[in-house]
Amino acid sequence: GTTLGTAAAEKGRYFGAAIAAGRLGDSTYVNILNREFNSVTPENEMKMDATEPNQGQFTFTNGDRIANHALSRGMKVRGHTLAWHAQQPGWMQRMEGSALRQALVNHISRVASYYKGKIYAWDVVNEAFADGGSGGRRDSNLQRTGNDWIEVAFRTARAADPGAKLCYNDYNTDGINAKSTGIYNMVRDFKSRGVPIDCVGFQSHLTNSAPSDYQANLQRFADLGVDVQITELDISGSNQANAYAAVTRACLAVARCTGITVWGIRDSDSWRTGQNPLLFDASGNKKAAYTSVLNAL
Ligand code: XIL
Repeated sequence: GTTLGTAAAEKGRYFGAAIAAGRLGDSTYVNILNREFNSVTPENEMKMDATEPNQGQFTFTNGDRIANHALSRGMKVRGHTLAWHAQQPGWMQRMEGSALRQALVNHISRVASYYKGKIYAWDVVNEAFADGGSGGRRDSNLQRTGNDWIEVAFRTARAADPGAKLCYNDYNTDGINAKSTGIYNMVRDFKSRGVPIDCVGFQSHLTNSAPSDYQANLQRFADLGVDVQITELDISGSNQANAYAAVTRACLAVARCTGITVWGIRDSDSWRTGQNPLLFDASGNKKAAYTSVLNAL
């Protein structure tokens, strides 16, 4: 393959990018997107604040722009995200208890139903575990509705779109550590009790290198019977090109690693301002990291 998407496809994987609806009028951006990638993730457009700005009023215009661009060109869409402590609309931030739980279930049900049949995988729940050594849940308004909120979210998503793969997604979980082990234990419990979960996303916002046990961590999750995906890859630092190759090789070495998504196209599109963590420079030229990934695929 001579592009990221075709090379990944030859290995039975996809290669995706997070994209912004507001950039779909930028021809340099769209040319790279259409040439190189066969999956997209909306960077912000399917988040809770974007899709339900007022309670009970749903807005899918920008999410649709991205989904239509992708689906009309045969690209996959990763839905991101149905439930998260961040980027909640103001009305939801001010809710708690059973009213919030009910609003969460309604949100998941409505958004997943709207996109039914169009989404390859949904990040059903994003970033619900705490950083540090506890291995436990992050405190949030959603967590305070009861520890079962995550399984309720997954069951609700399954009922709304039975064809979508349902993922748990998080960061600082790229190696074997207390946080990733907490998630590992949750996934094992879900599988044993029949809670519908199909995949785990590893954001992989990295600096200079992947953890040495990156592949082993992906593999232990895969061994639980779920797919694994690299969902938000970006890597800053002088060792960038080598680290991108290592992540690519790790995914290819794990049979159930189904694809890689980079979190933006050009360095100038990145949320990590000034860190230049992506595969294309601000002018849209391929960087050394691009060649490194392509050669590893
Ligand atoms: C980021 C977007 O890239 C920014 O545009 C936005 O301002 C904040 O969110 N983890 C996630 C993503 O799951 O949704 C975040 O995206 C980056 C960290």
